[in-house]
Amino acid sequence: MKTHAIILAAGKGTRMNSSKPKVLQTLANKTLLGHVLTQAQNICDQVHIIYGFGGKQVINEINDNSVNWVEQTQQLGTGHAVQQAMPHINDGSISLILYGDVPLINTDTLTKLIEKAKQNYISLLSVVLKNPTGYGRIVRNNNNIQAIVEQKDANNEQLNICEVNTGIMAVNSSLLKKYLNGIDTNNAQGELYLTDIVEIAVNDGKTIASVITNNEFEVAGVNDKVQLAELEREFQQNQATKFMQQGLTLKDPARFDCRGSFSFGKDCEVDVNVVLEGNITIGNNTIIAPNCSIKNAKIGDNVSILSNSVIEDAVIGDGVSIGPFARIRPKVNIGENAKIGNFVEVKKSDIGKGSKISHLSYVGDSIVGKDVNIGAGVITCNYDGVNKHQTNIGDGVFIGSDSQLIAPVSIGKNATIGAGSTITSDTSEGQLAISRSKQKSFSNWKRPAKK
Ligand code: UD1
Ligand code: CA
Repeated sequence: MKTHAIILAAGKGTRMNSSKPKVLQTLANKTLLGHVLTQAQNICDQVHIIYGFGGKQVINEINDNSVNWVEQTQQLGTGHAVQQAMPHINDGSISLILYGDVPLINTDTLTKLIEKAKQNYISLLSVVLKNPTGYGRIVRNNNNIQAIVEQKDANNEQLNICEVNTGIMAVNSSLLKKYLNGIDTNNAQGELYLTDIVEIAVNDGKTIASVITNNEFEVAGVNDKVQLAELEREFQQNQATKFMQQGLTLKDPARFDCRGSFSFGKDCEVDVNVVLEGNITIGNNTIIAPNCSIKNAKIGDNVSILSNSVIEDAVIGDGVSIGPFARIRPKVNIGENAKIGNFVEVKKSDIGKGSKISHLSYVGDSIVGKDVNIGAGVITCNYDGVNKHQTNIGDGVFIGSDSQLIAPVSIGKNATIGAGSTITSDTSEGQLAISRSKQKSFSNWKRPAKK
């Protein structure tokens, strides 16, 4: 039986106080709607998204051609929203209703819900809350669900019910179409309520199945930045737990953020306040010290990323040491056992095996060979104000401290650059190049005296 997901995402989300539609707010660097979409795609054959506010922006940001985008021009209620999708849904299928602002919904729960809908036509996902205020109440009689009554339409007895409607449900599509034709706006809010289909189904002789989740977070909606932060923490905590169970040592799971995908080998350690983004893999025995920020990186075995380092779009070989306070910018490839020390910035460069750039340097648009030693304060001057130029440094080169290499320039194998040199032309293999001015010394120098 085919399954269709219908994701309701037409709301503005006024309480976000943002120019972005609510469903484009991000959790772990992925939009709320993106999270729901991923879950839906895991288990459904086709996904329909009901959009309204910020329409084009939502479609562009999600950028997924497999989605059937359905516009709801006016928000006349959840029932009206679902009605918009029905012409796109075939009768012999199951429709799963999801919400673009309920991001932590879990695939296992949804699978159970769909299975129950296959057997019973309708199944609801409910949750029992200490404080049910604001939610639709699940009205049961002898344990059988009779109706969902919205807060604003409920009587005092119904208001005391703590089992509430999460809004998420799975319904036989032909019955859903039929029942949606029977709903009206005779209620406190004058809206077309999706929830009214429950009573209609009961009157049609159907039994309503349910799945009751005990995880409030998986059904929690996000209406403001406070709730967004709460769900971010929950997400991060769950992810940290999963990683630790897989063998990662986290010095403090409460101070670890992964906003992307992270895979790691054996015996890796991540210290506090590390933020990972994009796709990151690290090999075995690699450690990441406190306060590092790493985005899209492939990092080998036995690597030490020392504290306060920033790495983006880089490939880092086995045995490399980076930092503390290093910045590795995009398109950098660092060979095995190389060392990038403190206050070193590397951009768009290949650094060969065993080479060392230990202190206070800038290396950009460069190819650095094996076993090169770059002294403190060396700068590759790669930019003439208009264009970027390349620096090539051969194997075994020694570059003395505080030298500037004015690109384009090549330094041949095993060449030596004297400290304090400004190198403007190529140096051949084995040469010593030195370009600083000769030192003059004056004996018994009298300093000027104050008048
Ligand atoms: C709805 C349920 C309520 C449930 C609660 C859970 C109904 C009538 N009530 O109430 O039983 O306890 O969710 O949070 O369904 N939306 C559209 N188009 C519309 C209306 C809504 O896309 O025309 C979207 C909104 O953007 C929102 C979601 O549907 O993300 C829920 O709508 P909302 O009006 O907030 O429903 P609730 O009053 O919370
Ligand atoms: Ca709501």
